[in-house]
Amino acid sequence: MAFKELVFSGVQPTGNLHLGNYLGAIVNFVKLQSRYECIYCVVDMHAITVWQEPAELRKSIREVAAAFIAAGIDPKAHIVFNQSQVPEHAELAWVFNCVARLGWMNRMTQFKEKAGKDRENASLGLYAYPSLMAADILVYRATHVPIGEDQKQHLELTRDIAQKFNNDFKAQIETAGFADGLFFPMAEPVITGPATRVMSLRDGTKKMSKSDPSDYSRINLADDADTIAQKIKKAKTDPEPLPSEEKGLEGRPEADNLVGIYAALAGSTPAQVLSEYGGGQFSTFKGALIDLAVDKLGPVGAEMKRLTSDVTYIDGILADGSARARALASETMRHVKQIVGFVGP
Ligand code: TYM
Repeated sequence: MAFKELVFSGVQPTGNLHLGNYLGAIVNFVKLQSRYECIYCVVDMHAITVWQEPAELRKSIREVAAAFIAAGIDPKAHIVFNQSQVPEHAELAWVFNCVARLGWMNRMTQFKEKAGKDRENASLGLYAYPSLMAADILVYRATHVPIGEDQKQHLELTRDIAQKFNNDFKAQIETAGFADGLFFPMAEPVITGPATRVMSLRDGTKKMSKSDPSDYSRINLADDADTIAQKIKKAKTDPEPLPSEEKGLEGRPEADNLVGIYAALAGSTPAQVLSEYGGGQFSTFKGALIDLAVDKLGPVGAEMKRLTSDVTYIDGILADGSARARALASETMRHVKQIVGFVGP
């Protein structure tokens, strides 16, 4: 069966949206709008898998929604909402908890990283996190999922869950009227552009992350022009001039990262960036990167701040998006309940 093409993705409201989130994910969310119907979600239930101060969480949810809109997502033509307003996500996640195997969960590298050494003290929610992520995507039977490189393993798990559900319930799926026994699609990751894995500005071997204690490791979407300039000036580099060809970036993680960031912001490629700046000193290149970053990110950050303070507007968008999302999700859950063997209308 051909599934209707539909894009779904989510971002956690855990503070400090950064350049990695923007270039790795949000920029692609914006691009996909012209080709597909899109659903973009502020995944607040994922956020509470680690402790969130309630007042901060509320602020961050609105901030991520504001960032989506400031970046160019149209909440009228598409859907922007927060996960907790659509209870079908949690409902399907429970079903998936009973489909996914412990062995699959045990392989998830993100859980290992986030739980760290004190694994016994991690929440059960953090462990089951990928099952909720699969539910986010599959409750809309979405076919395309724009994400950064770090979410690839979770997408593979989503496909495993979809496949096992389809296999386990093949007969019931056919009885429910899905002739070829396929209820859930094999959602495809969309990982594109020169910045699918933006690295820390302080250490080119570490991912740029919200949880890095050093604010100099990342550029936040809310940073003003001076802060952006300071952070790029202080960004770690190596003593060699920039290479003229892309293969010269091998073994030079910081140079590779800055060139990738430039290419992503300029909408070009690393090869094009090097054809212009290759052979030159980092200081010249950094100056150009500062101008470009301020030019591209400044207006997004300013609009995000403006929208975040308009609580009525943002809450209205989220309520409207949630109602539209729920209409779709409840339809899927109606079938799932029938397929699994629950009794109800
Ligand atoms: P989150 O909130 O950590 O990140 C949001 C998006 O930003 C991408 N990203 C990066 N891309 C490039 N370089 C980086 N340094 C970088 N850091 C983050 C992430 O890959 C992601 O696309 N589990 C997800 C949220 C989620 C989700 C979903 C995504 C929940 N349900 C369903 C897609 C579909 C997460 O924690 O993303």
